[in-house]
Amino acid sequence: TSIVHVLGARPNLVKAAPVVAALEDLDQTVLHTGQHYDERMSQIFFDELGLPEPDVNLGVGSGTHAAQTAALMVGLERELVRRTPELVVVYGDVNSTIAAALVAAKLHIPVAHVEAGLRSFDMTMPEEVNRRLTDQLSELCLVTSPEAIGHLAAEGVAVHRAHFVGNPMIDTLLANLGSFDTARVRADHHLPDRYVLATMHRPANVDDPATATALVGHLHGVADLADLVIPVHPRGRANLLAAGLDRHPGVHLLEPLGYIDFIAAVRGAAAVVTDSGGLQEETTILGVPCLTVRPNTERPITITHGTNRLVTFEELVPAARKALEGGTNAGDRKPPLWDGQAGPRIADVILEFLGE
Ligand code: UD1
Repeated sequence: TSIVHVLGARPNLVKAAPVVAALEDLDQTVLHTGQHYDERMSQIFFDELGLPEPDVNLGVGSGTHAAQTAALMVGLERELVRRTPELVVVYGDVNSTIAAALVAAKLHIPVAHVEAGLRSFDMTMPEEVNRRLTDQLSELCLVTSPEAIGHLAAEGVAVHRAHFVGNPMIDTLLANLGSFDTARVRADHHLPDRYVLATMHRPANVDDPATATALVGHLHGVADLADLVIPVHPRGRANLLAAGLDRHPGVHLLEPLGYIDFIAAVRGAAAVVTDSGGLQEETTILGVPCLTVRPNTERPITITHGTNRLVTFEELVPAARKALEGGTNAGDRKPPLWDGQAGPRIADVILEFLGE
């Protein structure tokens, strides 16, 4: 029995590591689309997470949505026709995810979608489009959060296809807990003792120069309260710098970090400001207050069971002040099944499906 895992962007790698490990007895191929290609966006994650080196790297790289998705599909079709796997496993909501699901479905190869059923109900997000379509094409919808089952049912996904398995991104976090050394990361990256960590890369926040400029104004407001440490994602780097992001004495810009250093920096932060999906989940487990600069989230469980709060641009500085004063919900409840065992549960579902 052979299966192919399709990985493309940084968060895919964090989610796949425990699944690939739990399926080690199968004949597995790890296929990297090359959607993310910078050393610090890709290779360092393979090294740190113990993921096997990809058997194939399609080297697709960046482009418009159409150009990137088309290139992904052409490369993936070639590989899947050659390998004829019995199952293709896709992760999350990036363009590599939908491209692989669409190609596999047309080749009549069943798809397993890890992190199925999350919905922001905001179709202006490319990820929401990718999520909805991928779930329609997936024989196995592997769900991280209970409400996702309802979303799938509402879209006509047969209940027997949905499996609540927990969160493999949290498997990776818990497995590496002993390695997140905040003192070392502070020293290595010259971080101040007390800081807010920010990450910003959503198209809605950084692609339009006027929006990026407004955002930078509010980030400077946060930097007036506490030092602000920002590892800068390649998307938005130019616009955020043009808007003067680094022109504040409290702002410390970093290159993208590897997984271990990044989570260590998050763990040591007084609060987090972000528009990332995964970071809402990671802060929930680490107990670090998280302010998500978005009008919605596909991960509401991080608000009800965690430390997350949605904020507008205008709410950011007051919310940061409150978080720094310790006024944010501490999040003593944890989301169900975010217990480090999602990888083995996903493996069980897949093995049963394959009749192994
Ligand atoms: C992608 C995902 C997003 C995810 C993010 C995590 C889609 C639609 N979006 O966004 O959901 O949160 O990954 O990081 O799939 N670039 C580099 N080096 C790289 C990769 C990208 O410089 O290794 C730059 C390029 O200028 C590129 C831009 O970043 O044009 C955007 O890359 P892309 O892969 O299109 O999407 P992300 O913004 O990274």
